[in-house]
Amino acid sequence: MNRPLRLGVNIDHVATIRNARGGDHPDPVRAAEIVARVGGDGITAHLREDRRHIRDADLKRIQDATDLPLNLEMAATEEMLEIALRHSPHAACIVPEKREERTTEGGLDAAGQHNTLAPIVWKLRDNGIRVSLFIEADERQLDAALKLGAEVVEFHTGEYAHAHLDGDSEKVARELKRISDMAALAAKNGIEPHAGHGLTYENVQPIAAIPQIAELNIGHYLVGEAVFVGLEHAVRHMRELMDEAR
Ligand code: PXP
Repeated sequence: MNRPLRLGVNIDHVATIRNARGGDHPDPVRAAEIVARVGGDGITAHLREDRRHIRDADLKRIQDATDLPLNLEMAATEEMLEIALRHSPHAACIVPEKREERTTEGGLDAAGQHNTLAPIVWKLRDNGIRVSLFIEADERQLDAALKLGAEVVEFHTGEYAHAHLDGDSEKVARELKRISDMAALAAKNGIEPHAGHGLTYENVQPIAAIPQIAELNIGHYLVGEAVFVGLEHAVRHMRELMDEAR
C-alpha cells in the first residue's frame, strides 16, 4: 500500500480573477474554505513580488479561515522572508521568480544559488517553517537541496505537462522516468518529494502513481475547471483520480 497522497490546492488564480476588476470578488478565502470542506489537504498560495494575484492581506485571512496547512510559495528575497516569518505558514516553497514570466517557468537553481538560498532556508527552518525547494527533477539540484537542508523538494512537472499536451509520448515517458527516479532518490536521502505545475485530470495519474511522492500542488487547471463544474466538484474529482492512481 502506497503512502497517501496529499492534494494542495493553489488558489492564486481565484485572486487573479478578483484582481481583474479590482474589487473583492471572487474571494480566494472562500475557495480555501471550499477546499477544506471537500477534502483538500492544504492551501498553496504564491505571493509574487508584483502581487498580481495573492496579496499580503490574503495570507492572514486564509490562515484565519481554515485549519488546513498553508504552503506559501515565495521568491528567495529579504522581503518575502520577512513576510514568511511574520505569518509562520506550515511550509514555505522557494520558487524562482521573474517579473516578466507568465507563470513559474522553470525550477529553482538551487545548485547555482547556494549562498543566497542558505541563509533563507536556515532562517525559515529555525522558525519552524518546513522548507521546500521547487526544482527540476535533476540530480544536481536534488544534491544541492540536500546540502541546503531542505526537508522537501517539489519537482516541476511543467516539461512533463507540455510533452503531454504535444502528444509526445517518448518525451512523456522520459520526463516521467526522470521525476520517478529523482523522487526515489529524494526519499532515500530523507527528503520528502512533492510535484506540481500544469497538472490536469488528463495527466495527473502517472505522477500520482509514483509511490514516493507525498503531495501534489495543483492550481490553474482546478480553478479553470471550477468555472464549468464548481470548485467543489473539480477538487473532488482530482482527489478521486489521485486516489485511483495510488
Ligand atoms: N507548485 C508550484 C511551486 C507553483 O509555483 C505552482 C504555480 O506555478 C504550482 C505548483 C501549481 O501549478 P498550476 O497552477 O499549473 O497547477
